[in-house]
Amino acid sequence: MRSRSQYLREMGLTPWALTTDTRGIASQHVEPASSDVEPLGKVPPSGWASLQQQVGNCTRCNLHTTRKTTVFGEGDPKADWLLVGEAPGAEEDRQGLPFVGRAGQLLNRMLFSVDLARDEVFVANVLKCRPPDNRDPFGEEVSTCVSFLHQQVTFIQPKIILAMGRFAAQALLRTDQTIGQLRGRIHRYPAYDIPLVVTYHPAYLLRSPQAKAKAWDDLILALAEFDGAAGSENV
Ligand code: URA
Repeated sequence: MRSRSQYLREMGLTPWALTTDTRGIASQHVEPASSDVEPLGKVPPSGWASLQQQVGNCTRCNLHTTRKTTVFGEGDPKADWLLVGEAPGAEEDRQGLPFVGRAGQLLNRMLFSVDLARDEVFVANVLKCRPPDNRDPFGEEVSTCVSFLHQQVTFIQPKIILAMGRFAAQALLRTDQTIGQLRGRIHRYPAYDIPLVVTYHPAYLLRSPQAKAKAWDDLILALAEFDGAAGSENV
């Protein structure tokens, strides 16, 4: 694994130009699984191929009229790490693959910096179709589409989830809290008690490079949680 300063250099930042906010890491704590939410595990786990087909044929919302293709997600369907973004952009809509544009290149560098390869993880989005002109997803689009994501979680059973950006964090945790309120601690994906870390969306990091240091802290928090959980399995 690269050091924090190597990571920041690879991400295009000079480490000495940064102020470090480590409060999040210091204040991390484990939240109990929320009991007041309907268990997401009730989502029937369709077979993977059938789920892919359902997404590919989906006409549940208007986005199907403007998309070029659906973007199911990509990676190992039995991955330990599940990364969740917001929605496909123009390039993803063309290729049918998540995070293949500029934000995807940054995501690849972030993964590389913690020795994770794209084919070791699964990358998905809350929405499987591109909102026109890259506008924010509408609430009803999220509520219509999110069951596909919950079924993906049910099938993959990842050991850790990284929610990238507000839409992923709020949809997975069923909250309206902000990224600022959610970062810096371990949450639990409600149905399966899977540890979940919230971080900034790579597209936001492209616009606000000063936040890359905090994204590094988030990755380290996720890695520590993953390593700790993996270690305790071997005891
Ligand atoms: N932004 C996302 O949230 N997802 C993608 O797949 C690409 C850009």
